[in-house]
Amino acid sequence: MSTMRTVIGLALALVFSFSLAHVAEWKNAKDLPILVKTMKELHRGPPKQTVLKRANVEEKWIAQKLDHFDESNTQTYQMRYLVNDEFQEEGSPIFIYLGGEWAIEDSMVSAGHWYDMAQEHKGVLIYTEHRYYGESIPTTTMSTEHLQYLHVKQALADVAHFIETYKSENSQLTNSKVLLAGGSYSATMVVWFKRLYPDLVEGGWASSAPLLAKVDFTEYKEVVGRAFLQLGGQQCYNRINNGIAELESMFENNRAAEARAMLRLCSSFDDKNDLDLWTLFGSISNIFSGVAQYQRYGEIEYYCDFLLSFDDDATAIANFAYWAWGYPSCIDARYSGTVEYYLWSIENFSASRPWYYQTCNEYGWYQSSGSNNQPFGNKFPALLYTTLCADVFGTQFTNENIGLSVSQTNIDFGGMAPEVENIYMTHGGLDPWNPMGHGVTEGATVITNASHCADFGSIDAGDTAEMRASKERLAELVREWLA
Ligand SMILES: *[C@@H]1O[C@H](CO)[C@@H](O)[C@H](O)[C@H]1NC(C)=O
Ligand SMILES: *[C@@H]1O[C@H](CO)[C@@H](O)[C@H](O)[C@H]1NC(C)=O
Repeated sequence: MSTMRTVIGLALALVFSFSLAHVAEWKNAKDLPILVKTMKELHRGPPKQTVLKRANVEEKWIAQKLDHFDESNTQTYQMRYLVNDEFQEEGSPIFIYLGGEWAIEDSMVSAGHWYDMAQEHKGVLIYTEHRYYGESIPTTTMSTEHLQYLHVKQALADVAHFIETYKSENSQLTNSKVLLAGGSYSATMVVWFKRLYPDLVEGGWASSAPLLAKVDFTEYKEVVGRAFLQLGGQQCYNRINNGIAELESMFENNRAAEARAMLRLCSSFDDKNDLDLWTLFGSISNIFSGVAQYQRYGEIEYYCDFLLSFDDDATAIANFAYWAWGYPSCIDARYSGTVEYYLWSIENFSASRPWYYQTCNEYGWYQSSGSNNQPFGNKFPALLYTTLCADVFGTQFTNENIGLSVSQTNIDFGGMAPEVENIYMTHGGLDPWNPMGHGVTEGATVITNASHCADFGSIDAGDTAEMRASKERLAELVREWLA
């Protein structure tokens, strides 16, 4: 048992390490409110590529208008980008990987399939950082007032300005063709960029792009459940389903004290407050989401073995959660703790806050318990998340206004019908995000058993036949686009 603990503990440490490194400033990182902790996990950016040969990646900056849509506003900010020009020559194509709601890093332009294709075509590799993330912060705080310049339209305009400027300032590249790639939200940006600025790019690769904005994203947890069912088996699925049902019923049937002790909740947790209960059950389900969203071969099976090693269902869930959250002194599942964290990050930057703002202002995508066809109970409605919008960003974020903003996003970008050419879309068949993107009937490639952004690695002997075929198809399309 103790060896298994260590091994799984290590695996969990890998899954959950990025967020911990990032939040060391918050009192005690271990005691981060669990809803914040689990949501950070889900937005940590595409998996890093394994770099075998250190590439010469340069960090550079470009001035961007703070507001591209207001002529009278002349303020600018510095946007960061990374360049790897090891293959550059006269007329090289430009391979741009778009940053999303995370900090950019070298590996994406130093290794992987995008890098390999750039090598084949003697391309220049660039990774642009999205405004308000990483070090590309345009404002002195992240107050709601200051976040008014955070919008995908502004970020896309940054990319357009970047492409025009980069080409005009590099005499070797004035007439170069440009290709885009992105994963998750930045894949969405690839599609939308082609829609808004079709002449600036030849083609693009969108891995796991959600296209439809939706407040109550009930499908997400269904796919998380399906991933545990298909890869972990019926027993594992039942354990999750029954364990969560048991914990819910303990709170409903005068066994709250027992449930609180089992879950090691901090004494301030108020089980009579719906928002606290919703925060707790939403966070527990998010641990499973974090595993499924980036699962690699064998991982779900591994966690399932762990879950099945306990005598009863509720204990298994409680211990799994305690483990995943790094054994905090007590588990802070208070709703008010979550609000406090997001208010704290107004001055103490944390990427969670701007992304949360974008969900309230543009997309929704709240991964609720609204479907009965999933094993995580029914205790975290989208209302948990929309209430948090109002408490964190201001009372103007009513449910009605959030709904209107989300509809507007679909009007602006066409939802499931973006009508773009030369964009190759790929999805993992067990990626919980895939219901918001294109399926096979719309021309996308859906790779069986794969998770979110799973196809950025080089073509490799370990690839499934479908994975390999998709990477080869993309390489062929890139040849056509650059011909
Ligand atoms: C998907 O995973 C299941 C469960 O491990 C396995 O039986 C099946 O062969 C896999 N399918 C493919 C195409 O890899
Ligand atoms: C930011 O963090 C510092 C140090 O932890 C703290 O003193 C300050 O109150 C925080 N800002 C906000 C808005 O909470």
